[in-house]
Amino acid sequence: MPHALIVDDDTDTRNFLSEVARAEGFSVAAADTLRSARAQLRRQHPDVLLADLQLPDGNGMELISDLDRAIETEVIVVTGHASVGTAVEALRAGATDYLTKPIEVERLANILRRQPRTVDLKQEIGELRDELRKVGRFGHLLGSSPPMQALYDKIARVAPTSATVLLIGESGTGKELAARTIHDLSKRKRAPFLAINCGAMSPQSIESELFGHEEGSFAGADQQHKGFFERAGGGTILLDEITEMSFALQVKLLRVLETGTFVRVGSTQPIATDVRIIAATNRQPGKAVVEGKFREDLYHRLNVFPIHVPPLRERGTDLEMLAEHFLDELNATEQSAKRFGASATASLYQHTWPGNVRELKNYVQRAYLLADAVIDNDAQPEAPPSGDEDDEITVKIGTPLDEIEERVTMATLARCGHVKKRAAEVLGISLKTLYNRLEGYSQRSDVEGDAETV
Ligand SMILES: Nc1ncnc2c1ncn2[C@@H]1O[C@H](COP(=O)(O)OP(=O)(O)OP(=O)(O)O)[C@@H](O)[C@H]1O
Ligand SMILES: [Mg+2]
Repeated sequence: MPHALIVDDDTDTRNFLSEVARAEGFSVAAADTLRSARAQLRRQHPDVLLADLQLPDGNGMELISDLDRAIETEVIVVTGHASVGTAVEALRAGATDYLTKPIEVERLANILRRQPRTVDLKQEIGELRDELRKVGRFGHLLGSSPPMQALYDKIARVAPTSATVLLIGESGTGKELAARTIHDLSKRKRAPFLAINCGAMSPQSIESELFGHEEGSFAGADQQHKGFFERAGGGTILLDEITEMSFALQVKLLRVLETGTFVRVGSTQPIATDVRIIAATNRQPGKAVVEGKFREDLYHRLNVFPIHVPPLRERGTDLEMLAEHFLDELNATEQSAKRFGASATASLYQHTWPGNVRELKNYVQRAYLLADAVIDNDAQPEAPPSGDEDDEITVKIGTPLDEIEERVTMATLARCGHVKKRAAEVLGISLKTLYNRLEGYSQRSDVEGDAETV
């Protein structure tokens, strides 16, 4: 039976928390001071520690340093003072979540329900980490360079908890793959993983995509629609390019994080949700706050556990290993046996890969197609200067303008190593416009694509 230690000097709160924890199948010990909490810790180590911040003899967070590192207790901060600042500090100090008083039973129960399997999962992850480290992969991620090892350590630490994660890394570094790995190594792995790109959609479509809408709530809403927060029940949502979300939506998202409930567009009825949020950005989130693009309160709430995904140029020989891996994949599907020649391998290191792993993958595909048996330097990773015929598009007179636009946009994007920011600059349009166009193209062609990613 999992064990909970409840530390609060207020008798009513203590009793209430104990009752909910018992109902969720925990054995419970309670304490009203730091001193008695420490005595309890010596008796039995808890799987969950629910601690008030302000106790008669000190701050509840001081207990974190008393916890046995090997057992990894989940620490939930309970605060009566709805001060996000102190709660955030607590999260920084190692707490996984916080509850503000008055405590909502459902939210507390949700947090507790996630705990019992933590111990098994942690063991599983520990084994996975040791084993896969040797072969240079972790979950969906490949690579054994020191920055990747550091990434795996962080993922392993956070995956089994309920903590919100902020993934920070350049475009194409594998943030979505990292998010999937976190999901697959959590108790949520059997529930859905849904990804949404906040930069690629209008605020209104993101809102109804996330929260759902009621019939008739806006023109075109001809039936009720369940949003991600309902469809991903018990699972994980990746909010990609979080800093591109509108301010109004950022406020709503913060509310979901604080209360565990959301409201469908066109409704006032709050619905409880149990979803883990992983946010991702390829900007410096602190800078986005200063620039007024990213709400500071949301930033702090999401930044509980920041994880940096390193750029490819910092991953040493992982570069070669990844290139070989992508080539192996192509050889397997095409039943061929092409390989890299020494000159092609050497030239991989001459390039800085601004589009990171995505750019590398595209390069390998291109090189594969151009080569017979041995890949040499015909498909240079770095685009040759203009003048090359690859830099030109020929269009027939009378081609519809939107088709021309699409072809030029896609070709420029490819030329920029699929770094959208760079392509937008070259095309002289905003990043948002580029996204809107790409979204339009994908709807027009309506390829099957990855149905989970919008
Ligand atoms: N470590 C890795 N091992 C194997 N494949 C990888 C790795 N990192 C990234 N990839 C592959 O590279 C491509 C880009 O990865 P992903 O979409 O996760 O990047 P991202 O950081 O989310 O990009 P963006 O900022 O554009 O959203 C994908 O095809 C992914 O499978
Ligand atoms: Mg992504």
